[in-house]
Amino acid sequence: MAFSVISVFFLLLGEIFAAENDDIAFDKKYEFIWGNDHILSLNQGRELQLTLDNRSGCKFASYLNYSSGFFHMRMKIPGNNNTAGVVTSFYLMSKASASQHDELDFEFLGNIEGQQITLQTNVFVNGVGDREQRINLWFDPAGNFHDYKIIWNPHQVVFFIDDTPIRVFKNYTNYGVPYPTQPMRIEAALWTADWATFGHKINWTYAPFVAHCQGFDISGCSAQNSDVEECYSSNHWWNNMEYWNLNSTQQKAYENVRKKYMNYDYCDDKAKYPSGLPRECVIQKNGRLHNGQKY
Ligand SMILES: *[C@@H]1O[C@H](CO)[C@@H](O)[C@H](O)[C@H]1NC(C)=O
Ligand SMILES: *[C@@H]1O[C@H](CO)[C@@H](O)[C@H](O)[C@H]1NC(C)=O
Ligand SMILES: *[C@@H]1O[C@H](CO)[C@@H](O)[C@H](O)[C@H]1NC(C)=O
Ligand SMILES: *[C@@H]1O[C@H](CO)[C@@H](O)[C@H](O)[C@H]1NC(C)=O
Ligand SMILES: *[C@@H]1O[C@H](CO)[C@@H](O)[C@H](O)[C@H]1NC(C)=O
Repeated sequence: MAFSVISVFFLLLGEIFAAENDDIAFDKKYEFIWGNDHILSLNQGRELQLTLDNRSGCKFASYLNYSSGFFHMRMKIPGNNNTAGVVTSFYLMSKASASQHDELDFEFLGNIEGQQITLQTNVFVNGVGDREQRINLWFDPAGNFHDYKIIWNPHQVVFFIDDTPIRVFKNYTNYGVPYPTQPMRIEAALWTADWATFGHKINWTYAPFVAHCQGFDISGCSAQNSDVEECYSSNHWWNNMEYWNLNSTQQKAYENVRKKYMNYDYCDDKAKYPSGLPRECVIQKNGRLHNGQKY
């Protein structure tokens, strides 16, 4: 009797912690997309191990499409003496063709020996990307799990590392700037790209490259169960006013990241835009709409 009471207690405790940690089995919300034999399920599906070798990389994705949410993935990136050409990514992506899709990206670009792993983020709207920002991380993403998050609500898209905002893309639709509107699914992948590390191609001597993912619960509004407008409503906590703008603490942390760690921002790349920077860059430079004030 006492035994079963105790085990029920631990069972409940386990569930409470699981809920708090978003530690559910991946197959409740996600499925494998390719390279299935390069994905290993650990700890009853609460962790996935992704492998890239010269036969294949791999990818998994959410079953559902979402139209708003506060998405996250806990990840540990491949660490090796040389991960040049290795890309680990966590992103949201719509189903439309490449020339029309929306996409919000975290991409970890592998390093050559002695250099740091770079984190690149990008925003695609209606097939137009080229909005790269890159930062040198203040920690080793291969050393430990960190939480990578994207909030997407009618007011802003914010990329976070743990609780630190590293990128803000506001909804400036009213000022003629495109903003993601298409339902997107969540994807994560381990793959190789020749462009990732300043032209240093992958050296398979260092393979296999191994990444780990955790945290498979999803806080998102799936448009299939409801019309899109409902996904923008205050029925969903990530749409509430406290998520419309960064608060003062977040704003300070964000500015600190930009100042200390950002080494590329498309908005500073005048050579790339000889006929003028994209409109959102001009608006953000003026800084006024950051605070929701007049433009
Ligand atoms: C996600 O959206 C795509 C494109 O609209 C659609 O083909 C697919 O069926 C959707 N998935 C689900 C699970 O609704
Ligand atoms: C990296 O190189 C050092 C020295 O050559 C070696 O001792 C170490 O095991 C290597 N680390 C990995 C992760 O391969
Ligand atoms: C962006 O803002 C406009 C104007 O406030 C609003 O009508 C639209 O629904 C928002 N877009 C998204 C995808 O939330
Ligand atoms: C790959 O790495 C190994 C070990 O460091 C090295 O001997 C080899 O030359 C490298 N291959 C290429 C193509 O750079
Ligand atoms: C800002 O938001 C963060 C995250 O929600 C919260 O922890 C912090 O207390 C807030 N700070 C202020 C000054 O409101």
